Amino acid sequence: MSSESPSRPAGFEGLPRRTLGRQELRALVDRLAERPELWREHVAFSDDRRHYASLYRDEHVDVWLLCWTPRNDTGWHDHDVSSGAVRVVAGAVEENNPRIGGDPVRTVVSAGASFCFGPDHIHRMTGVEEGSVTIHAYSPPLVRMGQYSVDESGVMRRTVVDYTEELRPQDEVPAPQGALAAAS
Ligand SMILES: [Fe+2]
Repeated sequence: MSSESPSRPAGFEGLPRRTLGRQELRALVDRLAERPELWREHVAFSDDRRHYASLYRDEHVDVWLLCWTPRNDTGWHDHDVSSGAVRVVAGAVEENNPRIGGDPVRTVVSAGASFCFGPDHIHRMTGVEEGSVTIHAYSPPLVRMGQYSVDESGVMRRTVVDYTEELRPQDEVPAPQGALAAAS
């Protein structure tokens, strides 16, 4: 389209110029998974700081490459007003969803699989295998996120964090039996 401006980089040309729905985000990360030339140069791993790289960002969507070891843990968080999608391109990651009064809902997602979610989603992600890699897309683009902490009495609190901050567990203590338990 001649009205397109500015031109977008390879892999992102056809995106609609509006907020994308969760299934559109999932289709995007699934497509990018088949284009390793667009992201493989960013793959790197660290146990201390989860490695991530921005692949693309405009006013409607942002796309990240994340690299995981089993020591990497986001802690509980949400994505504020954004929907999102995750595609695993190497290894496996674990997603946990908090459940009041019970153990979290635990899902292991392996290479080749993807999932998506709306802004109502709260989760925690950890690496399962060494050398795990995921592609994430969010719309509208992440600006801030909610990071949750659970104190010794099981009370959960939400802290607003900037999207550029690395998500990690917030001063978390082991939750009492039957309360919101930590992943792993
Ligand atoms: Fe997340």
